[in-house]
Amino acid sequence: MSQNLPLSGRIAVITGASSGIGEAAARELAEQGAAVALLARRKERLDSLAADLRAAGGRALPLAVDATDRAAVAEAARTIAGELGAVDLVINNAGVMLPSGVEEHRVADFEQMIAVNLTGVMRIVDAFVDPLIAAAKRGGPSDLINISSIGAHGVFPTFAVYCATKAAVTHLSRNLRAELGPRHVRVSVIEPGFVNTELQSHMTDEAAKAWIESARRQITWLSAADVASTIAFTAGLPRHVNLQQVTIMPTQQV
Ligand SMILES: NC(=O)c1ccc[n+]([C@@H]2O[C@H](COP(=O)([O-])OP(=O)(O)OC[C@H]3O[C@@H](n4cnc5c(N)ncnc54)[C@H](OP(=O)(O)O)[C@@H]3O)[C@@H](O)[C@H]2O)c1
Repeated sequence: MSQNLPLSGRIAVITGASSGIGEAAARELAEQGAAVALLARRKERLDSLAADLRAAGGRALPLAVDATDRAAVAEAARTIAGELGAVDLVINNAGVMLPSGVEEHRVADFEQMIAVNLTGVMRIVDAFVDPLIAAAKRGGPSDLINISSIGAHGVFPTFAVYCATKAAVTHLSRNLRAELGPRHVRVSVIEPGFVNTELQSHMTDEAAKAWIESARRQITWLSAADVASTIAFTAGLPRHVNLQQVTIMPTQQV
């Protein structure tokens, strides 16, 4: 792998790397020279992605981790430091979207969204904030990139809890930036509109599925690679430039 690529020497952690935006981000960051730690629950998907990246000359470390499990995330952070080196780029991407009307009382779905989309995001921040500050102290770039959603700003029937978790991720990111930016750690939040991934396939609410399918027919959605290239661009900027909040939309989505 060439030393002159935009992200050569960077050590990245990507959560939700087993599919969609996380997988595409892992491919893009590796192609641009970063070593990548791949976190998600589906081990076989991570192993196969790591094999692809290594075959192309990259460094990849697959780790089956539930992002909500504090001890497992902490253990992963130690393994990454030992096997890949000091982390300076974190893509906090794992998420679930399980819409339903609040009167249906699908409490387990609400709790799962809060656990993965919010608590999981904070587990990752907690595990990697020290290496990110250390990387910044060494004088190099250091990035925490959180994946939120246009849902952070939108109002959609049956998506209340999902949108609330994403509003929290956006606001969390801006507040963390106030804390970490003065120490040269860039905090960015990326808020995509519709992206073609597995995310929608886990939904069970019929009305929400019909709305999504109609949107899919009517407009051209983003691909995971579109979002991945935005992530890589954000991380590749000069150290003093922080793209703090990026809303990336399909052109036709209003
Ligand atoms: N697709 C869209 O339209 C869209 C729009 C805006 C924002 N987003 C956001 O983009 C992010 C990525 O979603 P995606 O669209 O790429 O969907 P996706 O293909 O379903 O990917 C979600 C990823 O999260 C992982 N994940 C779920 N629960 C986890 C847990 N407890 N621990 C660790 N990993 C977990 C999944 O892996 P495992 O199942 O293997 O654990 C998977 O890799 C999410 O935060 C989502 O909210 C998506």
